[in-house]
Amino acid sequence: MPGSSNTGFGTPPAHIAIIMDGNGRWATARGLPRTVGHKKGVEAVRAAVEAARELGVRYLTLYSFSTENWTRPQDEVSALMQLLRFYLRGEIAKLHRNGIRVRIIGERQRLSADIQALIENAESLTAGNTQMTLVIALSYGGRQELVEAARKIAVAVRDGELAAEAVTAELFAAHLSTGDDIPDPDLMIRTSGEKRVSNFLLWQLAYAEMVFLDTLWPDFGRRDLEEAIQEYHRRDRRFGATVGSR
Ligand code: IPE
Ligand code: IPE
Ligand code: MG
Repeated sequence: MPGSSNTGFGTPPAHIAIIMDGNGRWATARGLPRTVGHKKGVEAVRAAVEAARELGVRYLTLYSFSTENWTRPQDEVSALMQLLRFYLRGEIAKLHRNGIRVRIIGERQRLSADIQALIENAESLTAGNTQMTLVIALSYGGRQELVEAARKIAVAVRDGELAAEAVTAELFAAHLSTGDDIPDPDLMIRTSGEKRVSNFLLWQLAYAEMVFLDTLWPDFGRRDLEEAIQEYHRRDRRFGATVGSR
């Protein structure tokens, strides 16, 4: 049931965002090409989506490909795009069956036309689903998203549609790709031991709890998700207030 919890350790955070890192190192450690790690990574995505839905998470955001990832060698970028095609073609029907709404954020005009079509199809097919929202950050960069929002607002002010005084945090947030319908993440998980945000959801992560796991993404499973949620519940979120004043 949406919003219910099968974790046995309290309601899970409404929105979990994950930086799925470590595919390359997973493969290299086994003497395999990096792309094999990406392939295993897709299996971990399937497992994470299923686990999140079963645990009652309402929003799951997965960082799949960053703006900066375009600078990787051409063959790795192509392999990642090919995997994305396979994932979208093979998984959308199942996501839809499971009541999952799919949203893609990022600079989609940089993606090939066929992938853009797959994305549009996935979004429109699943738009009415209410079990969980799966946000896929693809060709996504937090700075680029902020600049784009600022540009849209500047144009509206220039054209006399918006007063400069009307620009508030709420209005700004509504101009981001997460709009006014996707709440900010409560919990951000990064795998692979790196402790940085790498241009992910710079605005939206303002008060997220961060959990960094040494697990490499292809090894990530339900247990890791549950552990991160348990760690989240041990945290004391204050949002800038003093303890007990909220
Ligand atoms: C994460 O794994 C997947 C993407 C960024 C697309 P990496 O490919 O970054 O793997 P490492 O960090 O090199 O191990
Ligand atoms: C962040 O991982 C992007 C994704 C997981 C899609 P990277 O591997 O690209 O980040 P850096 O280079 O370690 O900061
Ligand atoms: Mg990496």
